Amino acid sequence: MQTFFRIVSAIALIRLSGFAAFRLVLPLIGREWPRIVEDVVILVLYVIYGFVQLRGAGVDLSSIVTTSAILTAVIAFAMQDTLGNLLGGLAIQIDNTVQVGDWVSVDGVGSQVRDIRWRSTLIETRNWETVVIPNSQIMKGRVAILGKREGQPLQWRRSLRFMVDPRVPPARVIATINEEMRDVPIANVARAPGPTTVLHGFAQGNLEYDLRYWLTELLEDELTDSMVRVHLFASLQRAGIRIAEEQRTIHAVSRDEAHADAVRKREIGRRLEMLRGVDLFTVLSEEEMNEIAERLQYAPFARGDVITKQGNIAHWLYIIMFGEAEVRYEPQHASPQLISTLRAGQFFGEMALLTGDARSATVVAKTDVECYRLDGKSFQGLLLTRPEIAEGMSRVISSRRPDLDKVREAFATQPGPAVSEQADLLSRIRRFFGLRR
Ligand code: CMP
Repeated sequence: MQTFFRIVSAIALIRLSGFAAFRLVLPLIGREWPRIVEDVVILVLYVIYGFVQLRGAGVDLSSIVTTSAILTAVIAFAMQDTLGNLLGGLAIQIDNTVQVGDWVSVDGVGSQVRDIRWRSTLIETRNWETVVIPNSQIMKGRVAILGKREGQPLQWRRSLRFMVDPRVPPARVIATINEEMRDVPIANVARAPGPTTVLHGFAQGNLEYDLRYWLTELLEDELTDSMVRVHLFASLQRAGIRIAEEQRTIHAVSRDEAHADAVRKREIGRRLEMLRGVDLFTVLSEEEMNEIAERLQYAPFARGDVITKQGNIAHWLYIIMFGEAEVRYEPQHASPQLISTLRAGQFFGEMALLTGDARSATVVAKTDVECYRLDGKSFQGLLLTRPEIAEGMSRVISSRRPDLDKVREAFATQPGPAVSEQADLLSRIRRFFGLRR
C-alpha cells in the first residue's frame, strides 16, 4: 500500500513540476514552449522514474534494456507512419516552421492553421472546410505559408490579370493605373509596397497586364480582388481605355457598324436626358444641348476614388449621372472636413473653372459614381454664347461659398480675405473669361 502511494505521489510530483516549469516559470521569463515539448519531457521523466523503481526492486535493467530495444525496434517498424507523424509534430512545434494562425495554401485554397496536434495539423479553409493533414506529410512535402516573411508585416501579393488592345501604348496603360491606384484607399490593400502594373505578355492579339497589389487581410482575398478590379475598371474607362476581348475575325462588318451606331445614339440620348435634368441648362436650345452632349466624356468612379483634388488645376466640369459624391475641405494640419454631399443632376468643379483659382475642395466618390465631364474649353465656349449660364453659375457658387468659407476660416492659420460677394464673384468670372455685358 505504501509503495502504491509513493508511486502515485511521484507521478503527481513529476506532473506538477512539469506544469510549474512549462506553464509558470518559462512564460514568466518570456519563453513559451509548445505543449508537445511539455508532454515529451514529462513522459521521459516517468520512464526514468520507472527504471529507478525497477532497479530498486532488484530487477536486472540490462536484460530489460535489451528486450525493450528489440521491442522498440519492432514497434517502431510497425508504427513507422505514426512515429513519423509524432516526430513531425514535434519538429513543427519546436522549430516554429508552421504556427497556429498561419495562412497556408491547401489544394490552391487559402486556409488558416487552427491547431497543431501530436499526429496531425488541423486546417480550416476559406470554403468552411476543416482539413486534417498528417504531420509527416507537412514535413516531407512542400507547404507554402502565405504572406509571411521574416521581419515583415503580414501581406500577400495578389496578381489580377487583364487585357488591353495593343493600339494603346503600354506606357500609357501602366502610368494611368499606377497613378490612379496609388492614392485610392481600398480596405485590406497595403499602402507600401503600393499596387503596381506590369506588362505580363502577349495573348490572343492583345497585351496582357498584371495589376499586383499586397493584401493585408488574407481572409478577404476574393472580396479585395473584386474591389481592386472595380477601381481598375473605372480608371481605365475614365482614361478611355477598354478592356480587350479575345480577338476574332468577324465577317458581319455592316451589321456591326449598324450596331455601333445604335449604341452611340443610345448613349447620346442618355446624355441629353441627364443635361435636361440640370436646372442651369434648361435655357439651352435642342441644338446646343446636342452639341454639349457630343462633347461630354463618360467618367465613372468607384467608391472611394478621388474625383478632383483640392489645390489642383481645373480642367473639367463634372455632372453627376448616378451615385453620390462628398465635397471635403482638407485643412493643412487636420483631417478632411465634409462640406456637402452632391447627388445625381448636380454639378461640381465650376468654382475653379470659372474663377481660375485652384480646386477649392476635394471631391470623393461616396458610392460608385457615374459622371460626365465637360472640358474647360467647351465650357468656356458655352459661357461665351450663353452669358446667362455664367450668371446662373455665379448664383450657385454664391450659395455654396458660405459653407466652404466657414470651414476654411475655422481652420485658417491666418485670417483670409473676406468672403466674396456675388457681384464681386461675377465680375471675376467675367474677367476670367473676358466677357462683356
Ligand atoms: P472647384 O473649386 O472647382 O472644386 C471643388 C468643388 O467642390 C467646387 O468647385 C464646387 O463645385 C464643389 N463645392 C465646394 N464647396 C461646395 C459646397 N459648399 N457645396 C457643394 N459643392 C461645393
